[in-house]
Amino acid sequence: MVKVVEKADADIVVRFEREEKPFFKGKTLHFPIKNTGNKPLDYRWSIADALELVKSLGAKSVFFKKPQFVSKKDWYRFFYEGLLLADYEFSEYKTTKEEKPEIFFQGKEEEETKIAEIYAKATNFTRDLVNTPPNIATPKFLADKAVEISKKYNFEVKVYEKKEIERMGMNAFLAVNWGSTKEPYFVHMTYRPKEPKGKIVLVGKALTFDSGGLSTKTAEGMMTMKIDKSGACAVLGTFVGLGELGSDYEVHGIFAATENMPDGNAVRPGDIVKTYSGKTVEILNTDAEGRLTLADALSYASELSPDYLIDLATLTGAAVVALGEFTAALFSNDEDLAKGILKAGYFAGERFWRMPLEDPFIYEKLKTYDADIKNSALDRWGGAIYAALFLKEFVKEGIKWAHIDLAGPVFNSKRWAYNPVGATGFAVRTMLNFITGR
Ligand code: BES
Ligand code: MN
Ligand code: ZN
Repeated sequence: MVKVVEKADADIVVRFEREEKPFFKGKTLHFPIKNTGNKPLDYRWSIADALELVKSLGAKSVFFKKPQFVSKKDWYRFFYEGLLLADYEFSEYKTTKEEKPEIFFQGKEEEETKIAEIYAKATNFTRDLVNTPPNIATPKFLADKAVEISKKYNFEVKVYEKKEIERMGMNAFLAVNWGSTKEPYFVHMTYRPKEPKGKIVLVGKALTFDSGGLSTKTAEGMMTMKIDKSGACAVLGTFVGLGELGSDYEVHGIFAATENMPDGNAVRPGDIVKTYSGKTVEILNTDAEGRLTLADALSYASELSPDYLIDLATLTGAAVVALGEFTAALFSNDEDLAKGILKAGYFAGERFWRMPLEDPFIYEKLKTYDADIKNSALDRWGGAIYAALFLKEFVKEGIKWAHIDLAGPVFNSKRWAYNPVGATGFAVRTMLNFITGR
């Protein structure tokens, strides 16, 4: 628990400074501020490091003091939010709980502390969902969560069940579900303000578990595949934030939830399906399943004629190879949209890097003899770009669209800045800042 107070008597008092190394003077811990040149990240990262040190010393309580040279806004939006994010713990399935210090943060409750709390709450909501194991977090579980938050915040919500998904002809999405014993769900939430100044549609990849299907993954490759629902969970977290903050935009949240499993009914390499858009796809690799679910979701989303269409997906290992595990790959057909996301990402302390959505040579690889396009190239080169070009086939001409491949930064096996081990809730705060400007 973190308490915002003006004064506190604590075991350790932390003072942030522009020092080289941390040192103690009495019970005051002088702690250096990171200096990578990215203030929103550096401030959040520094308080996370300080908290880690305090915890390792076994202190019962700690008081973080506001330095003179840090503005109030930065103190609340970066340090306070960073602290709330760093203090997160997923202990739902632990039967022994760790002791945690009492944490005091200098300040008083005001507008900016509330916003920081909402940003952290939305992120931690997503982290909880992503961390939830795949035997619990099923497609139904995600659909139920959407209904739950829609009730709480008064969103419209429509959950399509298997029969309706079949009737709509979302056969690419359904093919991914063939091998699973769990029913698929297609979810559409809407936040509608009185006088919307525009329309934003968010689409999230919602694979509650990705075994690869018949094109099976390795034992190691499968271990973390509960995180393959991170895109949809980020959409859900963003909606929690929207419910609290409000927005001038009408915002839609969409996801097609299923597992990807091998079985006698499972989709085979070589199967051809007709997508919701009418285009046919030859499925050559059943592990390239996310793009199949997204193909139908993006066609459906295009029908809403949004001003901006953004998809969030743990789509390719290739994006992680290209940029490392701390940066998301951003693809967009619109300059302003790309710039807006990069700017929001900077403020949120999240890293995005723009990738090319134009590549005529890779585009050639989409072609196949037996169907309109194939879901996987015959080689690995440019895998993240291939996937983005595949998705582009299902976005209606003229729609301003961004595809965010966040396979790397959604999860970590070691603490990373203000992200404890496990799910990071990546993209929630970037989306919230992009949509609300707050
Ligand atoms: N969910 C994976 C991508 C992924 C990999 C996410 C590692 C997080 C960490 C996706 O469905 C997948 O399997 N992609 C394949 C595509 C390939 C078969 C063309 C990949 O990246 O290997
Ligand atoms: Mn896969
Ligand atoms: Zn996947």
